[in-house]
Amino acid sequence: MAVLLAVWALLPILTTAFSWHGLWYELGFLGANPTLKYESFDQDSPEVNVMRWDPRCEEGYVFLSPRGHSYAEPGPLVYDSQGDLVWIERDFGEIMDLKVQSYRGEDYLTFWAGDDDGTRGTGQYYMLNSSYDVVYIVSAANGLMGDVHEFKLTDEGTALMTIYDICQADLTSVDGPEDGWIYDGLFQEIDIETGELLFEWRASDYYDIDESYFPLGLNKGSSPSAADAYDYFHINSVDKHTNGNYLVSSRYMHTVTCISPSGEILWVLGGKRNTFKDISRDKLATGISWQHDARWHYSDSVVTLLDNGAHEHLNTRDHSRGFMIELNFDDWTADVLHVYDSPGSFSSHSQGNLQVLPRTGNVFIGWGKPSAYTEFSEDGEVLCDFHWGPRVFFWLGWIKSYRAQKFHWVGRPRVPPDVAVDDEAHTAYVSWNGATDVAGWVLQRASNASAADEDFRSILYQPKEGFETQVDLQGEGYFRLVAVDFEGNRMGETRAFEGIWQWDTVHDSGSSSFFVFSERAFQWMLVGTFTAGAVVVAVWRGRKRIEAMCVYCRRRCLRRFDT
Ligand SMILES: *[C@@H]1O[C@H](CO)[C@@H](O)[C@H](O)[C@H]1NC(C)=O
Ligand SMILES: *[C@@H]1O[C@H](CO)[C@@H](O)[C@H](O)[C@H]1NC(C)=O
Repeated sequence: MAVLLAVWALLPILTTAFSWHGLWYELGFLGANPTLKYESFDQDSPEVNVMRWDPRCEEGYVFLSPRGHSYAEPGPLVYDSQGDLVWIERDFGEIMDLKVQSYRGEDYLTFWAGDDDGTRGTGQYYMLNSSYDVVYIVSAANGLMGDVHEFKLTDEGTALMTIYDICQADLTSVDGPEDGWIYDGLFQEIDIETGELLFEWRASDYYDIDESYFPLGLNKGSSPSAADAYDYFHINSVDKHTNGNYLVSSRYMHTVTCISPSGEILWVLGGKRNTFKDISRDKLATGISWQHDARWHYSDSVVTLLDNGAHEHLNTRDHSRGFMIELNFDDWTADVLHVYDSPGSFSSHSQGNLQVLPRTGNVFIGWGKPSAYTEFSEDGEVLCDFHWGPRVFFWLGWIKSYRAQKFHWVGRPRVPPDVAVDDEAHTAYVSWNGATDVAGWVLQRASNASAADEDFRSILYQPKEGFETQVDLQGEGYFRLVAVDFEGNRMGETRAFEGIWQWDTVHDSGSSSFFVFSERAFQWMLVGTFTAGAVVVAVWRGRKRIEAMCVYCRRRCLRRFDT
């Protein structure tokens, strides 16, 4: 059984691009958070294992908000489409829901930052421009604090945000106290420029406590006090259609609710108050549970979401998947248009999102607690699949990102590029945290320290590779590295550094044969240990059957001997 499970878990790894490094990565031998270190940059970043890549995947950058037990210093993180680091920052503390949104025709990086209890949060929303300066900080109104789950800008220059408000409630309908406490689920719409509250909706005005699927007292929250309130609704996404209606996802009610501009419930998909007749196979459309990120897909009759089908303590499906669901308001039916199954059929017990990409129509899913994201074609084929933490730790959530989303982004940091020089190896290492569209680096030289900008002469061009690029150094004098974009425009340059490098004295720092040998040996040792372990486990588990077999054999032998 254990062997079968291991094979099953590793099958996707073995059938895609196999590498020893990838295998060790996925088995967790490199730790729960394998990282890459850089010479020129003082922060490390989670290493990505590319499970699958396809040129049909949309151009763009991937935006994460890593945190968790094995991710000591959380903060925003951006990868390029190959999984190479583009931007990492640890000055904001724990953040959530990093994404690119447009406000008044300009793109902003937006996220929540503040204090969280692992599930809900109290904080504010930040909007950074392309030079990574904080331009707006948006807060909730009425003395409330913004929650981690949603910060969505609308085309009208307003912001939607989720809020958890602790208040008193009668819990007798779920066998709780009459003077109990709940986390009420709210959302607000705020004018970004003025901070004015335009609309507020409160779940407890429209939903009864006993419509929840989350048992009272399961996870704390038995509600004797305000500090131990019952999270009965768990609002986790808000969207707004151009027709003025709102779309709210409630994880604990298993519902997606359409709300009119006056707050009335127009329809409910899923849960105990479902409005729709489900005409999908296996009744998947209305059978959603513990879901995240309900969005309208252009039309108000197509809804996308991530159906987790699982909670830390309560599994309702054998794996998580995304859905594109079509609603028909003539005969009130719901049908599943497309399904996006988690590759390898894992469950995401919390968090996650589903995004339809604007140019290709591909579907991008961040799996939340499992440190993975996947891009599907619209009809459900896995195109790109990336792990940014090992598969064996998916269920633990030691490194996780509430959402993972893909956007076009232009980043032009105001700080200059970083450079580190290895004199021995005649090599410069250069990187530029946050800069997008760097095509490569031009090595320039001047004869003295007081040389003017135009006195630097270009010597060689090195195309950018990954986050950090290595450049061979030659000659004598003062050097600097200039970032150039794909049109050849100069974007910025490093500080100047001095040196004397002759070609013929370059040391060969290639790997020695001993190292290669010992690495191989180490790999076979690990495989041997793993196999031996599996055999021992199999023998131990089947010891009764083996014993019975031996007894049977002995009897047969004796009988044959007798005759
Ligand atoms: C970003 O905002 C800062 C502060 O408001 C401003 O100084 C800077 O010029 C802005 N950058 C861009 C590219 O607009
Ligand atoms: C520094 O170099 C520039 C040109 O490379 C030259 O014009 C200038 O005279 C030099 N200054 C000194 C102090 O050598």
